[in-house]
Formats: sequence, C-alpha cells, structure tokens
Amino acid sequence: MIKVAISGKGGVGKTTLAANLAYLLAKEGYSVTAIDCDSSINLPSALGVDNVTPLSSLKKVIEERVKMPFGAFRYNPKVDDLFEKYSVVNSEGVRVLVLGTIEKGGEGCFCPESAFLRAILRHAIFSDDVLILDMEAGIEHLGRGTARGVDLLIAVVEPGMRSIETLKRIEKLAEDIEIDRMCVVVNKYFQSEGAKRIVDFVKESYELLGVIPYDVKLIEADMNKIPPYKICDLKPFEEIKEKLKEMCL
Ligand SMILES: Nc1ncnc2c1ncn2[C@@H]1O[C@H](COP(=O)(O)OP(=O)(O)OP(=O)(O)O)[C@@H](O)[C@H]1O
Ligand SMILES: [Mg+2]
Repeated sequence: MIKVAISGKGGVGKTTLAANLAYLLAKEGYSVTAIDCDSSINLPSALGVDNVTPLSSLKKVIEERVKMPFGAFRYNPKVDDLFEKYSVVNSEGVRVLVLGTIEKGGEGCFCPESAFLRAILRHAIFSDDVLILDMEAGIEHLGRGTARGVDLLIAVVEPGMRSIETLKRIEKLAEDIEIDRMCVVVNKYFQSEGAKRIVDFVKESYELLGVIPYDVKLIEADMNKIPPYKICDLKPFEEIKEKLKEMCL
C-alpha cells in the first residue's frame, strides 16, 4: 500500500509528480486512486480525463447524506457508492476524483461539506493499493486529521528561496493532517551552484526522495494539455516510484 500526499508552493510541479506516479504505478498493475484536493483543479487534465464532478458541488447529495434533523449532522456518512459514481477511470486505469472547494467555513470547519469530503478521503485510504493526493500547501477547508492514514507527505520544491520557505509550512501541514513522515522532491533542477545548494540543504535537513531535472517537454505537455507521462523523460519519476515502493510496501 502506497498512500501519499503531495504538497508544495503553487506551480512547483505537484500535479505533474502526482500524475506521473499514478501512471507508473498503474502501469505496474497496482490499483491507483488519484485525488485532486487543490482549489485550482488540474489533476484530471494531467491524467487525460475531463468532466470529473467536484464532490463539493454535490449539494443535494451532501445534504441527504450528512444532514440530520435539528441542524445536526453525521460525521460518518455513507460514501462508498459515491466514490464509484463520481470518479472517472482514465485509459491507464487510474481512478480520478476531485474534491473541489468549500466556500464557507474557516480552517478545520465542521460544516457538512467538510464532513462529507473527509468521509470520502477516509474511504479512499482503504480502497485501492495506491492513493495519491494532490494538495496545496495549506488546509483551508479540510482541517485537522484530514489525511490520517496517509503514510507519507511529499513536499515538492523548486530551486529558489521561496519554495524552501514553504517547507516549514508543509512540515506544519504534515502535523495538522496527521502524517508522520515527510520527504522532499527537488523539481525543475538545473546545473548551477544555487540549485546544488538547495539539494544539499534538503539532504541535510530533510529526507530527499528525488531530484527531477528541468524538462522542457513538461512545459510542452502542459501547454498542449497532454498528460506529462506521454512525452516527458520518465526516468527521474521512475526512480522516485521505486523509492516509494521501498519505503511503503
Ligand atoms: N521538471 C520540470 N521541468 C520543467 N517544467 C516543469 C517541471 N515540472 C513541472 N513543470 C511545469 O511547471 C508548471 C507547473 O507544474 P504543475 O502544474 O505540475 O505544478 P503544481 O504545483 O501542481 O501547480 P499548482 O500549484 O498551480 O497546482 C507546468 O507548466 C509544468 O509543465
Ligand atoms: Mg497542481
């Protein structure tokens, strides 16, 4: 079982890593679920599917499943049928779901929507061999304990001080959503003194999971809405996948 959440500053390559790992693991025969937990939804397109309904938009369903009389609601609503119904399986066999955003409520809110999305995540953790969560660097709408049961938080950074600063925030995120282990992927790497220093810093202070070189094919894939794994160099992603298998299986 490989259950990972991928986080990092905007634009560092979370979705690219999520899609490529999902693809590679599905190709090996694992049953894989990939969930977009980001408010800017782009994982489905990176996995070559569209028309995935954001679960948070199912207002009526949420009401039926979560709400009880007198303003109370269920913390443990039934969602297994919805998991099947509102996921799309791509041509490589990856099951894709989109959580979507919750408009109301602050951090850790206990609104019906968040109870519902948490139930979906809890269900996902026990559903398939592999679970990959594409997350943002914060937890505005899901709150504490959201990803309990996920083994590993992968923080993606790119060479640059801003994304290194985000690492501290992601460490806090790991604590909040109750993931015990965190490791780091340095993405968009290019040969330079500065980039090397970033890798050394990560090695000293965190667990380095992998280094992915800057690859123009990935920009091309993004611009042409082609899943990244169809045209990019997959070798660095394969190495990360192997390491993950060693760590989690
Ligand atoms: N190794 C790489 N080399 C070159 N470009 C890359 C690399 N990895 C990702 N990119 C490009 O960087 C951009 C952002 O990547 P991606 O969407 O995966 O990041 P993200 O962290 O999910 O972004 P967001 O925060 O917007 O969800 C895309 O154009 C993608 O193709
Ligand atoms: Mg993304």
